[in-house]
Amino acid sequence: MRKPIIAGNWKMYKTIGEAVELVKALLVGLESGRDREVLVCPPFTALYAVRPLLVGTAISLGAQDLHHEAQGAYTGAIAPGMLTDVGCSYVIIGHSERRQYFGETDASVNKKIGAALGVGLKPIVCVGEVKAERDAGQAEAVVGGQLAGGLAGLSPEQMLKLVIAYEPVWAIGTGDTATPADAQMMHAFIRSRLHAQFGAEVAEAVRIQYGGSVKPDNVDELMAQPDIDGALVGGAALKADSFLRIVHFH
Ligand code: 13P
Repeated sequence: MRKPIIAGNWKMYKTIGEAVELVKALLVGLESGRDREVLVCPPFTALYAVRPLLVGTAISLGAQDLHHEAQGAYTGAIAPGMLTDVGCSYVIIGHSERRQYFGETDASVNKKIGAALGVGLKPIVCVGEVKAERDAGQAEAVVGGQLAGGLAGLSPEQMLKLVIAYEPVWAIGTGDTATPADAQMMHAFIRSRLHAQFGAEVAEAVRIQYGGSVKPDNVDELMAQPDIDGALVGGAALKADSFLRIVHFH
């Protein structure tokens, strides 16, 4: 059985004060005893302030990106060890916004996965097609290529530490969610690729999140799909009530 994982990707939102306030509200509203993992990924500047609030709670801390080198003259970049130092256990890698605006490629995603695993961070690796690719019937080919390039050279043991996030780019921030059936089809495809590359045990164990306009009113149907094991939430993760409702999906 795969334990569901609901993650909030806060993107470039929230000052330190706002981040602390949101985390406090999440901790107040979080129902205990549910068999699911909860994760928040604030901007880098808020990680240090948020971390002590989360220690010993049911909410884990993640970052939104990292550099693949351990240290060096890389102005503006954040090293893997800096993220573990500040208390992160997860890191998002290859988000479509990084691919679109910051030149992230499958090759850089692959390097970053290796660097994250090297310090014990669990990567959430994002894949997903743009609208034109879906319309052209290329969605599976695109996602298959991203998986092949991003996951190249990983061992089955390493793959077990990863989470995959399927985020169709046309669904991100648009309110235009993939239908549960379309999302399920792609998740099943992703799992079949994991099977081909890493074997049955890994394919069964690895969690695949859906991301792209996940909201309180669509999370239940999405999470009811057999191959959807979680959600990577943007806009609806910025308010405590909507994120908590998503976390408490039925
Ligand atoms: P939205 O939930 O705002 O569509 O963003 C999804 C996303 O990109 C999460 O990483």
